[in-house]
Amino acid sequence: MSRMTGKRALITGAASGLGFAIAQKFVDEGGEVFLTDLNGDGARANAETLGAKAMKHDVTSEEDWKAAIKRADETLGGFNVLVNNAGIGAFGSVEDDSFESYKKVVAVDLDSVFLGCKYALGVMKGHAPGSIINISSIAGLLGQAELASYNAAKAGVWLLTKSVALHCAKRRYDIRANSVHPAFIKTPILDGMKEALGIETDEELHKNLARGIPLKRIGEPDDVAYACVYLASDESKFVTGTELKIDGGLSAW
Ligand code: NAI
Repeated sequence: MSRMTGKRALITGAASGLGFAIAQKFVDEGGEVFLTDLNGDGARANAETLGAKAMKHDVTSEEDWKAAIKRADETLGGFNVLVNNAGIGAFGSVEDDSFESYKKVVAVDLDSVFLGCKYALGVMKGHAPGSIINISSIAGLLGQAELASYNAAKAGVWLLTKSVALHCAKRRYDIRANSVHPAFIKTPILDGMKEALGIETDEELHKNLARGIPLKRIGEPDDVAYACVYLASDESKFVTGTELKIDGGLSAW
């Protein structure tokens, strides 16, 4: 038996960074995955390397969610793990950011998690035990002047997850829900920081960000993927409504 035997997961934002790393680790550990992303071609290419299926899916669209859940259900023969991972970053203080940009970040980073939990439960209830993993951020727990909309959206994911966890427990669904809070992991989402900080190379950016981390390095996608294997598998069967920080000690300061 592998750690993910019998686990079938719908993973969003899987054309890139963390979503693909999580999918790879789930498959390595004996699980099955269905990948989605706004970048449908990217998700399909990644799925192919894993012998899995994928589809284009805009997580801000209620109709797309219904279609993705139906396809994942049909493809996997039901699923019992949902990873709400798709997300975008944004820089701007409450004065500098536009309302349009704020609404977009909240739609992609927070509304998507509401929709995913709301519609996936219909399938997951029939395949318990189950696990919902919502990728928030350390910026969902700690504020920063230039992250007004991202702070708002990711903090929303943090408490929404607790509400989902308690709802599932109250209804005796045997479905757990937890949030994951990474800080600075090496994925393309950090490209936006290069621009914001006026830094040219990835190496320079990583060094710069590492200075603020107690462990003096930034994270690798695997650091998050291993945590997701734990949360998706029955190893975490008594863990629900919690927040797992993967931040090199950043929030311990
Ligand atoms: P990434 O930029 O490599 O991947 C994000 C993926 O989400 C992309 O494939 C993109 O196409 C997809 N996406 C964007 N908008 C979408 C939409 N409307 N519908 C469907 N898919 C959409 O970034 P990364 O790092 O892999 O991010 C994954 C999650 O981790 C995000 O929620 C992000 O906020 C979170 N996170 C990342 C950290 C990091 O340092 N890399 C730190 C903390 C949180």
